[in-house]
Parts: sequence; structure tokens; C-alpha cells
Amino acid sequence: MERKVKVPDLQRMKEAGTKITALTAYDFPFGRIVDAAGVDVVLVGDTLGMVVQGLDTTLPVTLDEVIYHCRMVARGRSRALLVGDMPFGTYQVSVEDALRNAARLMKEGAVEAVKLEGGVRMAAAIRAISSVDIPVMGHVGLTPQSVHRMGGHKVQGRRRGNAPDARERVIEDARAVEEAGAFAVVLEGIPLDLAAEITEQLTIPTIGIGAGRHCDGQILVLHDVLGLYDQFAPKFTKRYAELGYIARAAIAAYVDEVRAERFPDDAHSYLLRAEGPGGKETGGRRRRAVAG
Ligand code: KIV
Repeated sequence: MERKVKVPDLQRMKEAGTKITALTAYDFPFGRIVDAAGVDVVLVGDTLGMVVQGLDTTLPVTLDEVIYHCRMVARGRSRALLVGDMPFGTYQVSVEDALRNAARLMKEGAVEAVKLEGGVRMAAAIRAISSVDIPVMGHVGLTPQSVHRMGGHKVQGRRRGNAPDARERVIEDARAVEEAGAFAVVLEGIPLDLAAEITEQLTIPTIGIGAGRHCDGQILVLHDVLGLYDQFAPKFTKRYAELGYIARAAIAAYVDEVRAERFPDDAHSYLLRAEGPGGKETGGRRRRAVAG
């Protein structure tokens, strides 16, 4: 294993000009694959509501669900920093609630840091959580938990002024997140020159998604990258593979072989006499090294 990525490493990477790579994951097999591929930060995002559960928004996702997925990913990853997302309603009600739920995510989900959405209005929660040494990753710009206020998943910071989606507001939010003690901030769905300005102004690393190339790092949703989700495809996502087609073709081949009675053949059946290496045939499911 390469050296484990820890929270302070992200700051060092920003200072050294080394781009931070981040990706979401939601279960054990992909936790292993993403980790083995060398990603620095694995986020168990509340996007699990959309790409795993098939919901229209992230809003109904619960803390118990995020914890469940974090535990699976934690068993698969060994090098990457593991961050768990705080779902809608788990940190907005009160600072005490935010602290209690962040602690639950760390204790029960085995994460090394938590992420939450919002800037100026969430500064008190970020301050309280980070003051008890639970590292917080902020998230400003297009914040999917604000989908109804924004009127959809809309790019933020395109115009000047005082409106909630104005450029100045995104800058204020990013600054508030840093001042409150976050160790990094996700910039989502903002113009690339605004992301460049924020990245320049902040001491902490910025991790962009739909925020252009000038951020200190990049994050994408795993199912978008692998072609496993096509209900909603924002302009910024890039499909690096078409696993959806590959999976469908593999399953169709299995269905054809069963119908044609070509599967199972003798090679995939137990014979009367044990024939495996050393005269032993294994009947159980064995643990194998993951492809990666
Ligand atoms: O929930 C999530 O997956 C996220 C990333 C897209 C940044 O917040």
C-alpha cells in the first residue's frame, strides 16, 4: 500500500501544487477498486440517494443510510481518506444536533472526516464540529440539498449582486467555511474563473465538481464516471467507461446460456469424485484478490 492519505496531507498537496483526486463510492467492491486506483479522497456522498437508491434528489437520504454505506466502503479502502456526507436535516436544526450527528458518522461509519453543505449560515455548525477534532469538508456553490430554493440543480455565481446565487455570495460562503475551521471545501457548479478566484483567496484546498480546472483538486460521482447512471447528466461529468452496457451484455449472455442449457457445464458443476488441486474441491465461496 502507498502511504495512507490523512487530513493534513490535503493542505500539503495544495501547497506543493499537487492536484487532489477524489471520487465517491458507496460499497465494499467499489471502495476497494477506487482505493486501488490511487484516488486520494473517497466520499460516501448523499448522491447515493440518486445513483444507488434511484431517488430524484438527495433530500430523503438518512444518516443511518449514509452510515451503512460508509461502513461498507471503510472495509474496502485502505489508503484513501474517507469522508462521509451529512444528509439533509442532520446538521441544520441546531449546532448540538450537528455535533451529535457528525460524531455518530465518525463513530459508527468509521469515517475520518465529514462533509456538509452551506457557507455563512452553516459556519456555527462547522466551527462546533471541527472544534472537537472532527475534520469538516465544506461544500458551497451549487448545493444539491438546496435544490428547491435554487429551482433545480442550477449553476451558481454567474451574476453579480446580493441574490443567493450571486458571485459575491459564493465567495462569502467559501470564506466563511474556511474561517469556521474546515480543512477543505467542495466548489460545485460555479464558473471556472470564480473557482480560480476562490482557490487563490483561500488557504485551504478547494475540490471542484463542475467548477473548472483551477481548483486544487477534482471530485466526481463514481456512477457518472463509470457509465452506471443516466437519469441525470450534468455538463461537467465525464464518462470514462460504459460499465452499464458491459454489465447488461454480461447478464444477457448468462440468460442466453441458461436458456440454451450451456450453463452450468461440467466445469461449473460438482462431480461425484473430488477433483480440485490436491484431490480437494472447494464448495464454498472463496475470498479472492479484487481486480484493480
Ligand atoms: O453527495 C455527493 O456525492 C457530493 C459530491 C458530488 C461532491 O456532494
